[in-house]
Amino acid sequence: MCGIIGYTGASPALSMVIDSLRKLEYRGYDSAGIALTGKAGEKLIVAKRAGKLSNLESALTSDHADSLSGIGHTRWATHGGPTDENAHPHISSDGKVAVIHNGIIENYIELKAELEKRGHKFSSQTDTESVAHLLSDEFNLSKDLADAMRKVCKRLRGSFTLLAISSDSPEVIVGARRNSPLVVGLGRGENFLASDVSAFIAHTKSALELGQDQVVQVSPDVVLVTDLDGKQVSAKPFEITWDAKAAERGGYTHFMLKEIFEQPKAISETLLGRFSNDSKVICSELASLNLDIDRILILACGTAYHAGLIGKYAIEQWSKIAVDVELASEFRYRKPFLTAKTLVITISQSGETMDTLMAARHAKELGAATLSICNTMGSSIARESDAVFYSHAGPEIAVASTKALLTQIVALKVIALYLAQNNKSLSSAQIAKIIAELLALPNKVEEILETVEPLRAMTRGFKDATSVLFLGRNVGYPAALEGALKLKELAYMHAEGFAGGELKHGPIALIEEGTPVIAILPPASSAISEKMLSNIQEVRARGANVIAIADASTPLDLKHVIRIPSCDELLQSILAIVPLQVFAYEMAVARGNDVDQPRNLAKSVTVE
Ligand code: F6R
Repeated sequence: MCGIIGYTGASPALSMVIDSLRKLEYRGYDSAGIALTGKAGEKLIVAKRAGKLSNLESALTSDHADSLSGIGHTRWATHGGPTDENAHPHISSDGKVAVIHNGIIENYIELKAELEKRGHKFSSQTDTESVAHLLSDEFNLSKDLADAMRKVCKRLRGSFTLLAISSDSPEVIVGARRNSPLVVGLGRGENFLASDVSAFIAHTKSALELGQDQVVQVSPDVVLVTDLDGKQVSAKPFEITWDAKAAERGGYTHFMLKEIFEQPKAISETLLGRFSNDSKVICSELASLNLDIDRILILACGTAYHAGLIGKYAIEQWSKIAVDVELASEFRYRKPFLTAKTLVITISQSGETMDTLMAARHAKELGAATLSICNTMGSSIARESDAVFYSHAGPEIAVASTKALLTQIVALKVIALYLAQNNKSLSSAQIAKIIAELLALPNKVEEILETVEPLRAMTRGFKDATSVLFLGRNVGYPAALEGALKLKELAYMHAEGFAGGELKHGPIALIEEGTPVIAILPPASSAISEKMLSNIQEVRARGANVIAIADASTPLDLKHVIRIPSCDELLQSILAIVPLQVFAYEMAVARGNDVDQPRNLAKSVTVE
């Protein structure tokens, strides 16, 4: 969702802020803006435009060149359409204070009514503009921007990351957060405030996590963090392990393609340090919780939810612990039954998905312990969980999740195996065999990627299809759901995933002459292999154009067969998902869509 950056230091703020906004583009946005300070007392310089960053850049003039502090924003519209007026920053009536915001101010209507009574004129339809006016009223009283921010935050309901600057204190940027991300980047003689670390990793790897309801004031040499009562608090420092180069496209046409090709390395990173030489599984995060677990509940959204669905099969089969998987957005508004023996696992690439964060809090309030599988250090979900299993996928810039998903699934397999080791529900020999299978995955994914060209060519032949169906059973079923989600979000096409056994309970009515159906087949030795083969016959008999994804153990007399290496049945979805990602990617390219930033979508869904 909205990208936020603040810079104060010796470099020209304009280029620093614009550069950072470019790094934040991946979050998804529909307008962008900046505000820069001049010398003390000089007017703020503000520019904002609907559309892409290039629109904003063409609105900039040479007056913007020598400011040393500034804030920048990429907006994903919630309140008010994506217009120049609704773009951030929002400026106070006296022109002295500029504010940018991510989140939703839930009580903005009552605040607006109060402010209008006091004579403020509103020029946008946003919830954010109220904050600019409130802040300037407080600032005019106290002449202290941080103090004004603390007072304003106490009046706000909802979620927010806020940054503000004032023409009266040109080197100072003030930030605040509640249920929305804000990190501080610590440089030498310069500091950054940002919605995520990718905005500043090219400049510094030292960062501070801000806690809930904290306010931070930065100038080039000083960072001061307080709670809303003005009491100084210490923020948690951390070092960013991501490589700045990893957040660049590096010769690939799209970030998504690069991230698909990074999957072998990402899986290796997830597995690094997880197994001892004598085939013991290491999961100190789970061990630190010291739990007697009788049930696991996995909570996540979107693609991460599919990781959870896939993880359930291995956890139950290997460790004999019951697993439920639920959409975080549903769970957070229910009154579920949890006990101190329930382990809640949340899964999130960004660590900022609002529904997952709120679901984790809800689970904690109900007495469960929480373990998160997270990719982003310093993120809210990581910070608030009792323990964090970092997936180490590296920065994922394309909106559509690819390498994050595979690493989440792999992390769940490690957890499943660790629990099986503790419960002695698998023998040491069985564990050693699965470890070998896991360690072989990076090469197997590599093998798929090396032979991906025919799949890309075949996909282009389906570009005018109106609907694509995906079929699978067992771990192939959530893989089918994922294939359909990827295609929807990237190709803007109707796509649905079904469990093979459900076909005759309704979905088969959708099959027409030529309907593409992608079927994920288990190894021939599986109990469900013949069931899937029957499903293929059933849809073919009704005109479907079947594309099968299978290993070499199943002979297939079909025009379109995508072969994947053989592996343990429970791990197979990890391999089957790779061609599904490539299919969705290629379809988006063939249909002329914006692959890395599909329409209407945002990378981190930080509002409900
Ligand atoms: C789909 C996709 C989304 C995310 C979902 C959760 O490709 O990327 O469905 O998986 O928004 O995001 P995280 O993992 O950041 O919580």
